[in-house]
Amino acid sequence: MRLCLRTRLLYVLFVPLLIVIAYIGTYLSYYICRFSGHPVEKCLLSSNMRLIPGNHIYNSLDLWSRTDVTRLSASGFIFRFSGHPVEKCLLSSNTRLRPGNHIDNSLDLWSRTDVKTCTSWGAPIMWEGMFDPHVYDEYHKKTGTSVALTVFAIGRYLEMYLKDFLTSAEQHFMVGLPVTYYVFTDAPESVPAVGLGAGRALEIVRVQRQERWQDISMMRMRTIADAIQSRIRLRHRYVFCLDVDQVFAARFGSEALGESVALLHAFFYLSPVAEFTYDRNPNSTACMETGDFYYHAAVFGGTWQSVKNMTESCYRGIMTDKENQVEALWHDESHLNKYLYRHKPSKVLSPEYCWSTEVGYRREVRVHRLLWAEKHYDMLRT
Ligand code: UDP
Ligand code: GAL
Ligand code: MN
Repeated sequence: MRLCLRTRLLYVLFVPLLIVIAYIGTYLSYYICRFSGHPVEKCLLSSNMRLIPGNHIYNSLDLWSRTDVTRLSASGFIFRFSGHPVEKCLLSSNTRLRPGNHIDNSLDLWSRTDVKTCTSWGAPIMWEGMFDPHVYDEYHKKTGTSVALTVFAIGRYLEMYLKDFLTSAEQHFMVGLPVTYYVFTDAPESVPAVGLGAGRALEIVRVQRQERWQDISMMRMRTIADAIQSRIRLRHRYVFCLDVDQVFAARFGSEALGESVALLHAFFYLSPVAEFTYDRNPNSTACMETGDFYYHAAVFGGTWQSVKNMTESCYRGIMTDKENQVEALWHDESHLNKYLYRHKPSKVLSPEYCWSTEVGYRREVRVHRLLWAEKHYDMLRT
């Protein structure tokens, strides 16, 4: 009887304890494996193995050229998987991207073997090492290129971000070229004085403040299209449209100029399409089931004609959604992604051009040209 009681006690107290210890142990070892980077799952195919029978294009992939690839999944967990087949630029090394003497023919798509340097439709994806900055700068100086940079600073975003944005842009954005900043704000009197270099100017445009932050973000599309029509097209060949909550940290130069330019979102540039945060609601005009990349709306640009078409089309989608009482998942960004799937950009910027330190260290991202500033949504979005 006494023995029986003891045995029962053992079961009641120690067995649950053991279960808890085993549970914690499993999780601990899981995290240690993930974050120490080993043991890491490897690609177990032998190096002369073909992925698909016959002449399939996937057989040109080099599965063993990368042993260290990291990606951040939408769920926020860091997965490491060595030997994952990384997509490469599939053009042969004597291909010219553009007809004639186009400046983008000076790009060396094969100087980087660790990243994808071109899209399937032949647009370059710009990474450090692929271009000669002087070649681009000299070309654009010679051809009299001038750039408009649009930025919105409405409500508390002005005091929080505008000064650092402009000051750092003077140090790194299209240095040596004529640039006009178009600052759209509801408080023109609060725009800080920033020393501007030769050939650089700043214009303030007063705009109405929308009540909802989602509308402030979305209505930029309409405002940019209007400003291109009324003033920008008469003065500048190129337009870049940027969020204000970011800071330039290294060259963001004339190599980024092109007919229509889109940016790879730092969180998704290695993710599979299923993880892209496209709008998936069939009731929204921004809905898409598949796409090429996940583009970040914090930076887009191109010639004034392209940006006018882009912003007008996104605005039309936004307004149709409003009539149908739907709002796309990531607002203007969802509409921009839909547009860029249908109208392929002629140049794609790698996440060097808008990096988030939250992603963590990535060996292939050799330079951080523009960095996300800290978000303070609780204070800013009132
Ligand atoms: N913005 C603004 N005031 C606001 C909300 C947005 O000026 O109250 C502008 C600002 O340029 C900002 C951009 O709209 O960078 C996009 O909003 P936000 O950066 O908050 O969006 P996120 O990048 O976090 O998606
Ligand atoms: C977030 C970013 C948003 C939006 C979103 C898309 O990291 O802050 O602006 O781009 O990703 O999933
Ligand atoms: Mn932003």
